[in-house]
Amino acid sequence: MKILVIGSGGREHALCWKLKESELATEVFAAPGSDGIADEGVTSVNIAVSDHTGLLHFAKENDISLTIVGPEDPLVNGIVDLFQNEGLMIFGPSKAAARLEGSKQYAKEIMHKYNIPTAAYESFSEAEPAKNYVLQQGAPIVIKADGLAAGKGVVVAQTEEEALKALDEMMKNRAFGEAGSQVVVEEFLEGEEVSLMAFVHGETVIPMVPAQDHKRAFDGDKGPNTGGMGAYSPVPYISSSIIKEAEEQILKPMANAMVKEGASFTGILYAGLMITENGPKVIEFNVRFGDPETQVVLPRLQSDLAEVVINLMNGEETELAWSEDVCVGVVLASEGYPGNYEKGAAFGLPEVSPHLDQKWFHAGSKRHATGWETNGGRVILLSTMGADLEKAVSSTYKTLDSQFWNGLFYRNDIGRRAVNLADASGSEKTGK
Ligand code: AMP
Ligand code: GLY
Repeated sequence: MKILVIGSGGREHALCWKLKESELATEVFAAPGSDGIADEGVTSVNIAVSDHTGLLHFAKENDISLTIVGPEDPLVNGIVDLFQNEGLMIFGPSKAAARLEGSKQYAKEIMHKYNIPTAAYESFSEAEPAKNYVLQQGAPIVIKADGLAAGKGVVVAQTEEEALKALDEMMKNRAFGEAGSQVVVEEFLEGEEVSLMAFVHGETVIPMVPAQDHKRAFDGDKGPNTGGMGAYSPVPYISSSIIKEAEEQILKPMANAMVKEGASFTGILYAGLMITENGPKVIEFNVRFGDPETQVVLPRLQSDLAEVVINLMNGEETELAWSEDVCVGVVLASEGYPGNYEKGAAFGLPEVSPHLDQKWFHAGSKRHATGWETNGGRVILLSTMGADLEKAVSSTYKTLDSQFWNGLFYRNDIGRRAVNLADASGSEKTGK
């Protein structure tokens, strides 16, 4: 079968790389894809992610049997409905189900209605009542633009002043455009964050292994929120019983809730969780694979990805097989990201040794003479598999620190806290 992946980032690189391994795939296409993805033997299709009719025509004319959607925007804008109306198989939620990510208020309402644990909240369309609520609740408190804002529409305010300023920025100055016309003000949750993704089709939920993202730009979780600066999987200090609790009390009830709401969910349901003293609570739902979580979860997946998706959508039993090894991924980003940055800085990639199980996943890069040049905020990610987290982390940084990176920066502490926590508790470091 011919498979089309929509998108061009590191997540889509990992999806394409995994799909190329599939026994079912005769050819893999990526729209628009990237030079890095093309190096996997994937055919780039020069159609933008936002050009839904262009993508539909391409899929029809080229007998694409399965389309997998990477980013959230086309899902929220209804690409799945468009393909399905034309009888094409596409993996992702309908426009109605994608509201779980497209509107934070909608996600909150569904969680509230079906008793899915999440932070207490109120939703506002006017700045003044929102400010009064902040003053009544006190800080720390979290302010979220309702709509899509590329992972940047969230302010975790440590003081009331910060929260009031964030409300002005979002609601009055429209820093995130229309996404800020509605704002959710939410209780600050304390704990460890975990990303838990699952393959979902109606009431069928097949969870993947957990991962932890590092959202802040700089070491020690300092600096602004980004799309994600690195990740690792599994998360050794979160017990399997907590993960099971999240599956039973969050992922499955949410899939069931969407069926009851008449917006049955098909695709990847991503729960961003805070593991609090009172158990796991939802920080956010996404309706697609996480980035960079996918780049550390898919390397551990031993099952055939295309087969998993096809079986799931056909209502057949599917089980996932996972490597016991851990995986760490560190993002190299353009200097200045997530703020303004320049493109076009040339860089070369150190050889990675196959026996270390290392791999480069390209995001915002393109070919430049003999090497590469930067072409986006998050540029590239190095993923490393290892027998335990400590080994995987140290071989990642050995490769990254082996050269000077002009115009790029990366965090030096991805996965390190997990290694330290495991050391401190004297528990097994592998998280197996
Ligand atoms: P989000 O885009 O909703 O994932 O939020 C970005 C980041 O803000 C999350 O990864 C958390 O670190 C933080 N955050 C969001 N909501 C809360 C909350 N209710 N309590 C504490 N931290 C939060
Ligand atoms: N890594 C967070 C996200 O994909 O939204």
